[in-house]
Amino acid sequence: MTKALAQKRIQKLKKEIDHYRYVYHVLDQPEISDAALDSLKKELFDLEQQYPDLVTSDSPTQRVGGKPLDKFTKVKHPTRMLSLNDAFSEEDLQDWQKRLHRLTENAQLDFFVEPKLDGLAISLIYENGLLKIGATRGNGLIGEEVTNNLITIESIPLRLREIPEATKVKTIEVRGEVYMTKKVFDKINRERQKAGEAIYMNPRNTAAGTIRQLDPAIVKSRELRFSAYALPTNLGQTTHQQEHILLKKLGFRTDPSATAAKNLQEVWSVYQNIQKKRDHLPYQIDGVVVVVNSNKQFARLGIVGKAPRASIALKFPAEQAVTVIEDIVVQIGRTGALTPVAHLKKVAVAGTTVARATLHNIDEIKRLNVKIGDTVIVEKAGDIIPDIIQVLPNLRTGKEKNFTMPKFCPSCGSKIIRHANEVAYYCPNHACFSQQKERFYHFVSKKAFNIEGLGPKIIDHLLTAGLLNTPADIFNLTENDLQSLERFAEKSASNLIIAIKKSRTISLPRLIFALGIRHVGEQTALTLAEKFLTFARIQNASAEELQNIHDVGIIASHSITAYFQQRKNQIYLAKLLPHLIVQKVKKTDTKKLAGKYFLFTGTLQAQTREDAKQSVRNNGGQVMSGVSKKLDYLVVGEKPGSKLLQAQKLGIKILNESEFLKLLN
Ligand code: IVH
Repeated sequence: MTKALAQKRIQKLKKEIDHYRYVYHVLDQPEISDAALDSLKKELFDLEQQYPDLVTSDSPTQRVGGKPLDKFTKVKHPTRMLSLNDAFSEEDLQDWQKRLHRLTENAQLDFFVEPKLDGLAISLIYENGLLKIGATRGNGLIGEEVTNNLITIESIPLRLREIPEATKVKTIEVRGEVYMTKKVFDKINRERQKAGEAIYMNPRNTAAGTIRQLDPAIVKSRELRFSAYALPTNLGQTTHQQEHILLKKLGFRTDPSATAAKNLQEVWSVYQNIQKKRDHLPYQIDGVVVVVNSNKQFARLGIVGKAPRASIALKFPAEQAVTVIEDIVVQIGRTGALTPVAHLKKVAVAGTTVARATLHNIDEIKRLNVKIGDTVIVEKAGDIIPDIIQVLPNLRTGKEKNFTMPKFCPSCGSKIIRHANEVAYYCPNHACFSQQKERFYHFVSKKAFNIEGLGPKIIDHLLTAGLLNTPADIFNLTENDLQSLERFAEKSASNLIIAIKKSRTISLPRLIFALGIRHVGEQTALTLAEKFLTFARIQNASAEELQNIHDVGIIASHSITAYFQQRKNQIYLAKLLPHLIVQKVKKTDTKKLAGKYFLFTGTLQAQTREDAKQSVRNNGGQVMSGVSKKLDYLVVGEKPGSKLLQAQKLGIKILNESEFLKLLN
């Protein structure tokens, strides 16, 4: 190829590659496969090899980032990079607004809210549209130049996409956060663990450490991302919201949850919504940043210390805390399984006081190498029971004690056993008082008989008083029985009897679930009810018939038949069933999606995604959260995400919205 032709081709390739990079890394909507993109890059690379003087700084081949450095040079930021003051509650937020009102003579304030990404702040300087310098925050005034590392990040444009025409500004500064996704972080740690290397603490530290790597090749392998949140250069914006729009035009990823809020009430609800989404986000956030939307007001409010007054970091409650394990006690479940539970020195985690954390099983205790008396990090994610995630062995005194599984059941004294191929230890005594109690708790629980007012405490009393033998006896209780118990008022006795009576009418799935058959959870109970329609048919089903049902495995099917064959269960059911009015299962013949797995991507037109998911479920199908081989259909709306490409790679059937609707009707 002649040089002139090569030059034209190079220009086209650069543009083409940059487009695919943008839709993939900034918009999350890949249009071609990785392989196709790689081969475009290869062609460009080869041409540039042939004509080295045609290489420009904005060429995608330059993202490899050059030679390792022995140290970074210092750069002075055009304006100081500030930090933020924290708020932890609605009250803190109101106090903040009061301060602002005092300083603005009660001016009307509206806000902009965006997730606070847990990474590190970066400043990017573009000259005539080309990336010149990228630097860390440093001490706020002077940072370290890490341009070579930053250009390996695909979501950072090497050339700005669109510069507003009216501006004659030569130098444009953009600020934002460099961060690592949870997935990449986990991958790196798995690899490090395999290689016997120390694992990293969290994605933020790892991202910060990575950006200060002297070798850009390592940085590139870490797949960092960049999200922009500020445009200190004036391109005509008057609000922070406009700043976000401009950042997008310039070619940056901004956070899709970022949104304007008219008042603090709205701010609070945006905060709560983002908090709800938090665990599902692919990256870590530790709160939201609230900004006074008007840039004029923002500037007028000024700076106090190192932080602008007009902005605040509204943090999520800490989900981790450090405390001490005072004891490890085994709990006996309704199936007899022994679970070691750590009794903790009380500590506040994610807004609630935590006194217990499950240690799951003996393997987990070994993995953590945890001892009684240890100082540990506890973590609470969502509403889940807190977990112990790490021991701090440097804080040991030498007085810590090892935990061992008891040889005999602490409740009934039976010899503890362990089944082959199972980690759990069991108390084999079905009549064990602890197991019995747990079976009662399960029987009355929300998802089973849901008997209001009959909690663990009252069950314990009734059991000790000898008034209950099996859950069937609950339905023979009288007001007199209850009143004979200590501290049971007349009124509450009569209320409880009413609640028990009410609970006699029960749906078939709830009844099956309430029995507490091993390996039969809520979903299996529902499947059984829908397939067999009556209790008697489930009772009489053979293991084979059970296995023929999608979602009932070999283990569950044997557990079910074994349950109904046991004499003591037959006696129990003969006592229980006459008390009950089991609601008929509506035989729906619309279960046409039974056993089918669905996933959605992109925006649907005729319905919301939630409604579409519900339709799938109503018709017996299931909705998955990610692409896997198990998936039957990917339903694609407008602007589909990366799921589309993944599904295509696996050869999964793709439906557009109207095909999906046809399938339903
Ligand atoms: S605005 C005046 N917006 O939080 C400071 N910061 O504690 C401008 N951060 O150093 C910050 N996400 O590294 C802003 N959406 C966001 C952010 C964000 C993360 C970080 C940033 C900053 C620190 C402030």
